[in-house]
Amino acid sequence: MAHKILVTGGTGYIGSHTTVELINAGYEVVIIDNLSNSNVKVLDGIEKITGVRPAFVEGDCTDLATLDRLFKEHPGIDGIINFAASKAVGESVQRPLLYYRNNLVTLINLLEEMPANGVKGIVFSSSCTVYGEPDVNPIDETAPIKEATSPYGNTKQISEEIIRDFVASGAPVKSILLRYFNPVGAHPSAEIGELPNGVPNNLVPYLTQTAAGIRKELTIFGDDYNTPDGTCIRDFIDVTDLAKAHVIAMKRMLDGEDTRAVEVFNLGTGNGLSVLQLINAFEHATGVKVPHKIGARREGDIEKIWADPKKANEVLGWKAEMDIEDTMRNAWRWQCKLGK
Ligand code: NAD
Ligand code: UD1
Repeated sequence: MAHKILVTGGTGYIGSHTTVELINAGYEVVIIDNLSNSNVKVLDGIEKITGVRPAFVEGDCTDLATLDRLFKEHPGIDGIINFAASKAVGESVQRPLLYYRNNLVTLINLLEEMPANGVKGIVFSSSCTVYGEPDVNPIDETAPIKEATSPYGNTKQISEEIIRDFVASGAPVKSILLRYFNPVGAHPSAEIGELPNGVPNNLVPYLTQTAAGIRKELTIFGDDYNTPDGTCIRDFIDVTDLAKAHVIAMKRMLDGEDTRAVEVFNLGTGNGLSVLQLINAFEHATGVKVPHKIGARREGDIEKIWADPKKANEVLGWKAEMDIEDTMRNAWRWQCKLGK
């Protein structure tokens, strides 16, 4: 029988793309989302792509009673993918308690529910932010965890520790911690994608909104970094490639025999691309110009970071496959669908 998976934050950006890949792989999905940063219409997009409408619970994971009810109403959940979290770095500096409460209480509640409900594994959305400014690139999973530069980043570090401690206590659960680099793009169908709230902080939604004429110009935050063209370097990973890694991780946890209780994987392409190179890739892929100017450095930015994804390649048998220009075309198609 197909495994039943609870996807928290499943109407969000990465959660919706992962739900599509889970359904395509034959899993049954139950989503819980409080719609604090997503829209219920995302379910229509998922249904259009897959032909299946996942079960949906509108609710908050910080409320244990809501989760109790969910597990009663949807018995037989085998695994959880926990995307539900607040993720705006700047806001987390302004409102740290909101971030600690939302991200940590959500995780603690889910862990607490797992043994009682026979849930065997949890995949957790972590971030390359745990590495801070790397001493060497590409960076692998053995690199040291650096002091967090924001409360958001700190919630990811603490969450990883909470999971390790819980498993070490003898709890009958497994976990895979996935450290994402910079997820970008949208589903090729343009039925789902990223829905930024207000003025985007992240590069690609700002770029596509500028290309669409919603924003006047894109400001490149600094061109005096110690990189070939002076702009920061990131590892931009296509959201569908990222989503597929979750399906593999879940299968490994639930069906794999010889797996460690807690495993951690970098999810990136292994290629660093500068901000300027990304803009060029977009313009080349779409033929659309992106008005841009050079501005001051953004406080807290990392100069350069890209993944060594060898462990995920070899152990999970997963590899990022999308070409960055195809990814940019998908991001543009999605922006065009959202409107100008
Ligand atoms: P997103 O905001 O699009 O999705 C998160 C979803 O969780 C939203 O739909 C939101 O409404 C929901 N949510 C938040 N708190 C909730 C709660 N208490 N109960 C129920 N639902 C709740 O974000 P995303 O980009 O899809 O990110 C998913 C996960 O991946 C997050 O944990 C994020 O920190 C992590 N991550 C994202 C990135 C990135 O660049 N997007 C990078 C590294 C890690
Ligand atoms: C940030 C967070 C990271 C989080 C991720 C997703 C920091 C230090 N890191 O990653 O923890 O997981 O967002 O939410 O905040 N840029 C511009 N102009 C813009 C926007 C961005 O030049 O208008 C540049 C940035 O300076 C950076 C690159 O583009 O060099 C990528 O920025 P962004 O998309 O915000 O992601 P990160 O900062 O890498």
